[in-house]
Amino acid sequence: MASQRVVIFDTTLRDGEQSPGINLSPHDKIELAEALQALRVDVIEAGFAASSESDFTAIREVASRIKDCTVCSLSRAVERDIELTAQAVRSAPSGRIHIVLATSALHMKYKLQQEPEQVLEQAVHAVRFARRFSDNIEFSCEDASRSDFPFLARLVDAVICAGATTVSLPDTVGVAVPEEYGGLLRRLIAEVPSADRAVFSAHCHDDLGLAVANSLAAVHAGARQIECTINGIGERAGNASLEEIVMALRTRAEYFGLHTGIKTDRLVPTSALVARRTGFPVPPNKAIVGRNAFMHESGIHQDGMLKNPLTYQIMMGKDVGWPDYQLVLGKHSGRNGYSARMKRLGVNFSSDAALNSAFHRFKKLADSKRHLEDADLLTTIGDDL
Ligand code: KIV
Ligand code: ZN
Repeated sequence: MASQRVVIFDTTLRDGEQSPGINLSPHDKIELAEALQALRVDVIEAGFAASSESDFTAIREVASRIKDCTVCSLSRAVERDIELTAQAVRSAPSGRIHIVLATSALHMKYKLQQEPEQVLEQAVHAVRFARRFSDNIEFSCEDASRSDFPFLARLVDAVICAGATTVSLPDTVGVAVPEEYGGLLRRLIAEVPSADRAVFSAHCHDDLGLAVANSLAAVHAGARQIECTINGIGERAGNASLEEIVMALRTRAEYFGLHTGIKTDRLVPTSALVARRTGFPVPPNKAIVGRNAFMHESGIHQDGMLKNPLTYQIMMGKDVGWPDYQLVLGKHSGRNGYSARMKRLGVNFSSDAALNSAFHRFKKLADSKRHLEDADLLTTIGDDL
């Protein structure tokens, strides 16, 4: 079976900005949207047009500058929001209206205070109304993972028949587990009569640390769009990390049989820019984009890496924007790693005995100091050259 394309829908500028503590100006959003375009995401959700004047302006500016991605804005399922959204994305060569309405019994009863039939009617009306402005309409069933299946399936069919071209099934509260979330997507795709007329999308939150796993389960089950953010930022514990999803699909292509259009060597620079503009630093041990992700300190690992990098690395750093790998010298490092690094500093020991005694001094130093700079390493040579 030929590899199939997964649409990468980036919501760093909308759900990502909903992270408590983040506030992006229109200027920040334009700069970040340009970086997302260079990364070659397929869809940029630039904000929520009806939420504030500044967000409306930011989305309109992004829409007028971004030529290679679809630009999208979130919208509640009400006419005023949809009109504002349509205006905000109008100048984009490809614009999308993203309508959201809750479908779980809990949300319908307590938040919307509506009967399920009213919600279904409102959803269909909103999609038909949005189609007056655009033929690229996404409908999100908020809290889909806690919704009653027969009702959800009926509503999904109704919004597709009304003209929605993408249907998203958010795990809004991050409660789903992979088998279950994948099962939800698989069953909807199989049972909704109009399913072949829309792209199904995953939107997962990380409250249990399962957002990436759930998103991957969804595409394995037939979804062809994933909604995600750079560095996994987003409401509460965040969204699925774009960089982890993209590299999982690429590194395990033989398992998924899927691919994305992402230019992966832009992942690290884009992550660093998002960290600077949001003020949310990237943890050193974060997969793909953390500074330790391609570093090796233990002696056993360094020895393996020097013999064949595949022993301890499943990806090459340069594929995501880092140097291929780095051997970091610390108290866990071994003689081979030390000697290789010293060679890169231009130091060649004349005998094994010279190397051994310099290595002994290095171990003592590494025990007392956490970060060893090149200058520190050079002090370990002593008179042994
Ligand atoms: O998590 C969610 O349900 C959302 C919707 C607004 C799409 O972000
Ligand atoms: Zn969300």
